[in-house]
Amino acid sequence: MSHQSDLIATDIEAYLAQHERKDLLRFLTCGSVDDGKSTLIGRLLYDSKLIYEDQLEAMKKDSVRHGTTDTEFDPALLTDGLKAEREQGITIDVAYRYFSTAKRKFIIADTPGHEQYTRNMATGASTCDLAIILIDARAGVLTQTRRHSFIVSLLGIKHIIVAVNKMDLVDYSQEVFERIVKDYTGFAARLELSDVHFLPMAALNGDNVVRKSEHMPWYTGSPLMHLLEHVYIASDANLIDFRFPVQYVNRPNPDFRGFCGTVASGVVRPGDEVMVFPSRKTSRVKAIHTFEGELEQAMPPLAVTLTLEDEIDVSRGDMFVHPNNIPLIATRFEAMLVWMAEDPLQPDKQYFIKQTTNTTPGVITDVRYRIDVNTLHREDAAQLTLNEIGRCAFALEKPIACDPYRKNRASGAFVVIDRLTNNTIGAGMIIDRNQSFGSVGSFGSVESVESVGSGLNGPNDSMDPTNSTMREQALQQHALTVWLTGLSGSGKSSIAERLEQRLHTEGFHAYRLDGDNLRLGLNRDLAFSAADRAENIRRIAEVARLFNQAGLIVLVSVIAPFYADRHHAAEIIGADRFFEVYVDTPLAVCEARDVKGLYHKARAGEIPDFTGISSPYEPPPAPALRLATVGHTVEESTQAVFQAIMARIRL
Ligand code: ADX
Repeated sequence: MSHQSDLIATDIEAYLAQHERKDLLRFLTCGSVDDGKSTLIGRLLYDSKLIYEDQLEAMKKDSVRHGTTDTEFDPALLTDGLKAEREQGITIDVAYRYFSTAKRKFIIADTPGHEQYTRNMATGASTCDLAIILIDARAGVLTQTRRHSFIVSLLGIKHIIVAVNKMDLVDYSQEVFERIVKDYTGFAARLELSDVHFLPMAALNGDNVVRKSEHMPWYTGSPLMHLLEHVYIASDANLIDFRFPVQYVNRPNPDFRGFCGTVASGVVRPGDEVMVFPSRKTSRVKAIHTFEGELEQAMPPLAVTLTLEDEIDVSRGDMFVHPNNIPLIATRFEAMLVWMAEDPLQPDKQYFIKQTTNTTPGVITDVRYRIDVNTLHREDAAQLTLNEIGRCAFALEKPIACDPYRKNRASGAFVVIDRLTNNTIGAGMIIDRNQSFGSVGSFGSVESVESVGSGLNGPNDSMDPTNSTMREQALQQHALTVWLTGLSGSGKSSIAERLEQRLHTEGFHAYRLDGDNLRLGLNRDLAFSAADRAENIRRIAEVARLFNQAGLIVLVSVIAPFYADRHHAAEIIGADRFFEVYVDTPLAVCEARDVKGLYHKARAGEIPDFTGISSPYEPPPAPALRLATVGHTVEESTQAVFQAIMARIRL
């Protein structure tokens, strides 16, 4: 290699150790040959000095034969691993390329830009952290730019670099760049793209690829390589919802029974209580085994073998989860589906649905609509044909443990398999029943949030948001759920009670959901295990959501000690309607008050799993409001909440 790091020559051990520790960024390049995609990748590799000398030699020779640049160096030729592409000038499949710099390791999924290759792009993109969307500065935002962006948003890729290439051909004009940024921003507002960075570039000359361009001093950001090396992806992984699909049950001798698989999301530790789906049996993790020895914890994408304390029935395709954070168990769900086969999708035909390690027979009962990937409009459709994307309803023979794709890429994705040929013919992403997918709902239709007819795990919402808006209009308020969490005796209920009165005095319509009360009726079958508490919170969140849809302000007062449960509640209710208030009263104070005498009993060992004593309380890391109650009256605390929610509830 033409020297990538000086350490290689001076201290090979240090170099290798450094290499070990580097994290990995998977990214995707979207664009057509005309946008300069291959040139860009070639330039990245060349300027980072990642090309083997003999490759360089061969390429220089090739540049004369196939080159399109008139110069002796055409970086595009570096990357065109596929001969057909060289000869035809198009990319025809997903090609993965690996490289690394001193900071990071990279995998590039190089996929074709043409419409007929949507399925390849979907395949290449499904595991990516970041997408580079290339735009030719002369052409601006094109139909294909929109298509690529839509697919990137559909697949939940969190980071996007919009690289406006060929700036040299528009005289490095800031005005041209800014016009493109404006066009793109206008259209991307309708997609759910969280982190978008714009970059002016001239890949052929290397401007803003690895080195900062001298021609565009007006661009104050970093060049592409710097962005790729520094984009923060550590928090993108879902470390909250533990999901462990069992791949294989390893029983080498009668004394050992291990469950092998890859941690799809979340973190698991020895001693954790786990629940197995579909049986719902629970046990504790005894140990986490790997080839190198036992681990203290495992998180994605580690492949491990778990052993359990108890002998319970587990087989391939089952899923381990934490009982206070359970997935959806569904035979019916809706999903966005990319159709990948020549033969069109046939409603009611039997297919296999493979999700994680589980394969289940099922049918697509309905194609709700197809998306025109170029205009992003919905169209009525009876079926999907090759490369088309649409929203479909599924019905399976057996329930699966799954999550909405937006929450969990691993347990929310599945493939459709032809039962005869065993070919993969579709790729699907399960939709949260509370949300439209990737805001697709906002295209060309009045419904921006939709209900999933035969819901995943609950009743059908017969109300669409237009109606809940109408109800809010009628009540002259915005619906909101004020979620008061805190220890037993912290003052949640007193504040909620006083707040309800106050709201009524001010002309608002509010209703209180109190943990203690609900446990007498709706939740009377539930106790205080982690799983029961999770179910308690889930039900309360579902009820709060319904009241919100009716236009009411809901005041919830429950301990809700676990972060994951509250997170789940926020998802059910919708982040924009969830207002978390942490009633922060120290344990000592709650215990000294001991209004119900429960702390006393808990200390005496008469109440097991008592929050704060023998069961943990996880304080909210970022509540909408934190109420330190010590030294304040209920009236003062109530006033603080009232003030904080005013802007949210006033129409
Ligand atoms: S939660 O943990 O599931 O959110 P919730 O708010 O519904 O709890 O109920 C808490 C109330 O139940 C407490 O205020 C207390 O009166 C009573 N309780 C009885 N046993 C327990 C327990 N083990 N832990 C906490 N609260 C308990």
